[in-house]
Amino acid sequence: MTALGVGRAAGKRVLVTGAARGLGRSHALRLAEEGADLILVDICRSLTDLDYELATEDDLADTVSLVAEHGRRCVSRIVDVREETALREAVDDGVDQLGGLDGAVANAGVLTIASWDKTTAQQWRTVVDVNLIGTWNTCAAAIPHLLAQGGGSLVNISSAGALKGYPLQLPYTAAKQGVVGLTQALANELAAQNIRVNSVHPTGVPTGMIPTALGDLLAGERADLIPTFVNAMPTPCIDTVDVSNAVLFLISDESRFVTGLQFKVDAGVTIK
Ligand SMILES: NC(=O)c1ccc[n+]([C@@H]2O[C@H](COP(=O)([O-])OP(=O)(O)OC[C@H]3O[C@@H](n4cnc5c(N)ncnc54)[C@H](O)[C@@H]3O)[C@@H](O)[C@H]2O)c1
Repeated sequence: MTALGVGRAAGKRVLVTGAARGLGRSHALRLAEEGADLILVDICRSLTDLDYELATEDDLADTVSLVAEHGRRCVSRIVDVREETALREAVDDGVDQLGGLDGAVANAGVLTIASWDKTTAQQWRTVVDVNLIGTWNTCAAAIPHLLAQGGGSLVNISSAGALKGYPLQLPYTAAKQGVVGLTQALANELAAQNIRVNSVHPTGVPTGMIPTALGDLLAGERADLIPTFVNAMPTPCIDTVDVSNAVLFLISDESRFVTGLQFKVDAGVTIK
C-alpha cells in the first residue's frame, strides 16, 4: 500500500482506457503503486470483426481489486471508447468522485491482420474507430478537466509499428500513425495551457492481443517479412511494466516540460 502523498504519481488522478487486462491493467497498477487514483474504462466484450477475444467484466473487476491492494481510490466503468457521449459521462462521473483529473492514458486498442488484398473496409472502420477516434474521444473527454486543473498530461498509446510501418496490419499501422499526428497537433494546440501530450511506441508485448492470423501469415506465405518484426536488442518481446514505466514518467511531474515526444519502448525494432 502506498502512503498518502508518497510516490512518483502521488495525488494524480488518471483515466486509463482498456484497463481490464494487458497493458492497460499494467499502467493502472504501476500508477497506483506510485500513488495515483484512477478512473478505469474498458469495453468488456468481444467484437466480431476481431479474431481474438477482448476483455471481460471479470477482468475489469480483477484490475479494480488489484488497484485496491495499493490502497488507491478507483472508479471503473464499462464503456466503448467509440461512444463519445458515454465516455464523456463516465469521465465526468469519475472526476466528480475523485475531485479532479490530472492525466489520461488512451490505451484501448484493437488489431486486425490481413495482407493488403484481403483487408476489408469493415476492418478499416473498426480499427480506425477504436484506435484513432477512440483515442481522440479519450483526449476530448479529459481535456476540459485538465484545463480546469490548470494543466495535465495526455499519454496516447501508439505502437512501434506506426514508426516502422508494420506490414500485414495496414489499418492498425495507419491508425497508430494517426495517433502520432493527433498527439503532435494537440501538443501544439494545448502547450500554452500547460497540457502535455505525448505518444508511447511499444514493440511486441505478450498480452491478450494475439490475432492468430499474424503467426499463420509469417509462418507461411510471408516469411520474408519476419525480420521487420524482430527487435535489435536480444529479446523477442518486452514486459508490460517496461511500457508502464514510460507511461508513469509521462504522467508524473518528472516529465513536466516533455511534450510532443514519441517515446519508443521498442528494444530497437525501429532503428534497424
Ligand atoms: N501487445 C503489444 O504487442 C502492443 C504493442 C504496441 C502497442 N500496443 C498497444 O497497447 C494497447 C493495449 O494493448 P494490449 O496489448 O494490452 O491488448 P489487449 O487486447 O490485451 O488489451 C486491450 C484492452 O482494450 C480493451 N478495448 C478494446 N477495444 C475497446 C473499446 N472500443 N473501448 C474500450 N476498451 C476497449 C480490451 O477489452 C482490452 O482490455 C493497445 O492500444 C495496443 O495497440 C500493444
